[in-house]
Amino acid sequence: MLDEIKVLQKEVDAFTPKNKKELEVFRIKFLAKKGIINNLFDVFKTIPKENKKELGLAINNLKKEAQAKIVDFKTSAPSLNLSKKEDLSRPIKLNSLGSRHPLSCIKNQILAIFNKIGFVVSEGPEIETDWYNFSALNLPKEHPARDMQDTFFVQTNPDILLRTHTSSVQVRHMEKNTPPIRTVSPGRVYRNEAISSRAHCIFHQIEGLYISERVCFADLKQVLLFFAKEMFGEKTKIRLRPSFFPFTEPSAEVDIYWGLQSVSDHKITKGTGWLEILGCGMVDPTVLENCGIDSKKYSGYAFGMGVERIAMLKYGVKDLRLFYENDLRFLNQF
Ligand code: PHE
Repeated sequence: MLDEIKVLQKEVDAFTPKNKKELEVFRIKFLAKKGIINNLFDVFKTIPKENKKELGLAINNLKKEAQAKIVDFKTSAPSLNLSKKEDLSRPIKLNSLGSRHPLSCIKNQILAIFNKIGFVVSEGPEIETDWYNFSALNLPKEHPARDMQDTFFVQTNPDILLRTHTSSVQVRHMEKNTPPIRTVSPGRVYRNEAISSRAHCIFHQIEGLYISERVCFADLKQVLLFFAKEMFGEKTKIRLRPSFFPFTEPSAEVDIYWGLQSVSDHKITKGTGWLEILGCGMVDPTVLENCGIDSKKYSGYAFGMGVERIAMLKYGVKDLRLFYENDLRFLNQF
């Protein structure tokens, strides 16, 4: 038996693992419950007393050395990839930085397009007075067109409300500036509407305003065509349909040609191939006068669009509520 141990001792001494796997095979062979060393101890119990001292010492030495081999290689051999802690060249683990909200991406894109042609950004308060949201915009009290935008009033004061559009910012801008005026007003707006996949009581708008001398409808049309091409691609076609807004005359709604390739195209365009993207028109002279601008000298156009609507079209999002749920599975896709 002593000879057998000597052979094993040599094997342990000579053992140099090349990788983690080899080391584990070695450990199982010698030190596992049913490994060589435990077997030797089992045999050890059965041998006569007078041989026990020498054999016991030999087995114990074998065990110690086998254990020492494992500890040695685990601590001193980073090249074996046994302990990743020592590898200072490993790339660092990056924390997730998050991403911009899809509505912010679209808002920034729209503002950048208008910025290219000289429109500056203007902002205003979300809690507005009746004057800035309605009356200055040719919507006197009791005017039936006020029903087009169901309004949230602040407490019981009918004069203070949550703005229903960012046209209110344009009124403020016209009051403080003299023409030529070229501005886009982004912001959150509020309407007392039932929440569904296509409407929400809170949404975002970007409205544009251009006031100068001899501005005409053709200017408006070209600017909107430029916007549509920048936003939806060079080949985009637009059409203007007559519409009504109290603050513009004439007024129009603008559609882009979406196509009728798929079933979903038929569905979203109601079989026409055209999709509405914004409202626009020539600013009503009464609005200019209300804001202290001489309507005999100056004319202008205005337009307004919903950021959610553009984002839904650009990203193919079918339910507007997804923008407000803050579900990371949705947001991480942008
Ligand atoms: N303010 C209108 C709306 O919120 C949009 C619009 C703006 C229409 C400017 C015409 C001109 O519906």
